[in-house]
Amino acid sequence: MSDTTNSSGGESRRGFFGSFSAWLAALVGAVLGVGPVCVGLYSFIMDPLREKTRPRKSRAEGSADANGFYRVASSDEISTDKPRRFTIVADKLDAWNFIENQALGAVYLQKNENGDISCFHTTCPHAGCSVAYEQDSNAYHCPCHNSSFKLDGSKLDVGGSTNPSPRPLDKLDVKVDDDNNVYIRYVDYYTGKHDKIEK
Ligand code: FES
Repeated sequence: MSDTTNSSGGESRRGFFGSFSAWLAALVGAVLGVGPVCVGLYSFIMDPLREKTRPRKSRAEGSADANGFYRVASSDEISTDKPRRFTIVADKLDAWNFIENQALGAVYLQKNENGDISCFHTTCPHAGCSVAYEQDSNAYHCPCHNSSFKLDGSKLDVGGSTNPSPRPLDKLDVKVDDDNNVYIRYVDYYTGKHDKIEK
């Protein structure tokens, strides 16, 4: 009688430990299985965020060469008479998106009598408004606080007023290839500073 009771208790304990082991094994398996998924998910989410910490120049590699030059125009499109405004268009890599043909900014281009091309950023160095070429004064003018600039980019004081810009217009590097393609090394600079400091 007592043997039967012990035997039944033993089976019950074996049953309990058997199912506990199975449950524990399932739990460990689930944890081991979910771990890599969590790591993968974390990497997927965090990788674009880490991308933001990379230098800004790497975000617009679509049509720039290794030195950051963008093709802007054909040399035939640039006049000696007056500056012409061109928009810099390139593919842009954002945190999670690749966007084609985005406007990065704008420049003014003009040829001199020797055929050399000068290029100026359209952003006013004072506080970042956009300068415009004005035919009447044959100069660049910023409407926000009345900065004016000569065609060589130097500051111009008009009508006795003081030019608030801390520096001349920002000049950019230009190169022309054998097929008359004009390339600009497009760079944004901090405004409100006496020196040209690249962003
Ligand atoms: S932003 Fe151009 S003058 Fe102030």
